[in-house]
Amino acid sequence: MRHKLVVGNWKMHGDRDLINRLVEGIIDGRPQISETVEIGICPTYLHIEQVAKLLLAANLKIRMGAQNVYCEEKGAYTGEVSAPMLAQLGVSLVIVGHSERRELFAESDALIAEKFKAIQANNMTPILCIGESLEQREQGITEEIVLAQLDAVIREAGIDVFNNAVIAYEPIWAIGTGKTATPDQAQEVHRIIREYLADQDTEVAAAIKILYGGSVKSGNARELFDQADIDGSLVGGASLEAAEFISICKSAD
Ligand code: PGA
Repeated sequence: MRHKLVVGNWKMHGDRDLINRLVEGIIDGRPQISETVEIGICPTYLHIEQVAKLLLAANLKIRMGAQNVYCEEKGAYTGEVSAPMLAQLGVSLVIVGHSERRELFAESDALIAEKFKAIQANNMTPILCIGESLEQREQGITEEIVLAQLDAVIREAGIDVFNNAVIAYEPIWAIGTGKTATPDQAQEVHRIIREYLADQDTEVAAAIKILYGGSVKSGNARELFDQADIDGSLVGGASLEAAEFISICKSAD
């Protein structure tokens, strides 16, 4: 049985005060949620150490996450942060290939595959984001797009790497728009992803968590989580309010 995972992606939000309040709210709410539900939070790089200290002091089951990483270990890469640096701060989950990185920062499938490998090489778990645009959905090529994004990593790193990875299906048209995919729409793509993996390795497919992301909130989380192939969520906007985030996590119980 796959346990649920709910991860907050705080994107480029928060100052030190907001971060303190948010983390304290999540720490306060954690005991109300079953231990079997995994929770992760991904602040900006700059706030990781602040969050990690608060989590360490609270000693609760909340995983430290990051929103991005660079694929090289060290060197002349101005402005970048490496996987060993994140691992040293206690990060165990790293988002890779988010559509905002693909679109706004022109990240290619090849770079995403390299980042994915660097995350795993440092004993952290990648959360690989894949998803189609509205135009692609309307053209009827959702399956093709999503599987091509997945394949880019499988080709480069093999199927076995998905033994220690999470996939997040995030339709771009649903991110930050308030327009969530219906549970049926989301389930359909999750099923396609899992079947595609099963064609290559049934054990990997059965065990891997596939999260849904895109305007998830307390009002729609439960019906999404009830779907057979939805194993939790990557939550953006709604994770910036502790009570709302905790409420989403409770729906995963
Ligand atoms: P959203 O973002 O929940 O604000 O739509 C999700 C994401 O980008 O991961």
